[in-house]
Amino acid sequence: MKVIIRDTKAEASIWAAHHIADAIKAKAAKTSEPFVLGLATGSTPIETYNELVRMCKAGELSFKNVVTFNMDEYVALPVEHPESYHSFMDKYLFNHVDIDRKNVHLLDGNAPDLKKECEEYEKKIVEAGGIDLFLGGVGEDGHLAFNEPFSSLNSRTRVMTLTYDTRVVNSRFFDNDVNKVPAQAMSVGVATVCSAKEVLIEGFSSKKAKAIQAAIEGPVSHYVTLSALQLHPNGVVVIDEEAAGELKVNSYKYFKAVEEAEK
Ligand code: GLP
Repeated sequence: MKVIIRDTKAEASIWAAHHIADAIKAKAAKTSEPFVLGLATGSTPIETYNELVRMCKAGELSFKNVVTFNMDEYVALPVEHPESYHSFMDKYLFNHVDIDRKNVHLLDGNAPDLKKECEEYEKKIVEAGGIDLFLGGVGEDGHLAFNEPFSSLNSRTRVMTLTYDTRVVNSRFFDNDVNKVPAQAMSVGVATVCSAKEVLIEGFSSKKAKAIQAAIEGPVSHYVTLSALQLHPNGVVVIDEEAAGELKVNSYKYFKAVEEAEK
């Protein structure tokens, strides 16, 4: 696992955006096959999306040959609800880049058969050739996508019941009323994310420091589903100084030294 530490969220977000853009361009230079990008929602990736949008508008990057799969979506929340992940993605990315809408995939939280919707989502990922890079964030409890504690590390896309803690954390988007936060969500599994060729996780602020420490330095455990990244051959975690706050001094120094040596 590679850990990239930047002074601020802004710098870390820009690093991530450029890393994604470089990966898209590197594949385009080799093949006409589309780049398959896994995407996340939440406050964490917004500045990365802003930079991707800026690059696109400046003609430095194109999404024309990019296929996307989002991580998750609330169950039974109308698509047009401002807090649906469909709305989020339009607002922060899709409405501002040159992506072909037929290449955009999000789980339908209102599908008549949710189980079937999840199974078909997995099939669509396989048909697209698998995910080249999955961008994700981390919950305060260490969850990856909506894979709450005790999710199987072999899990695939399915309906998840959210923990009360996650609903409380996300209630900031729902008038601070936990009862307005959907109780369930559909989420790609831990194994779905870890099947991507590369996984890039962002974690910012002191609120994420404990989760980041547990996922990076702790054991691989279904209690902290992000820890599954330890088994991935190409996992990258990009964090700001605050999110690095609970790492051991020696780990911190090592991650910095590795980056310096590989410059
Ligand atoms: C939700 C999402 C996760 C996200 C997490 C953190 O639970 N399902 O994918 O990583 O929130 O959210 P934020 O980025 O707002 O801190």
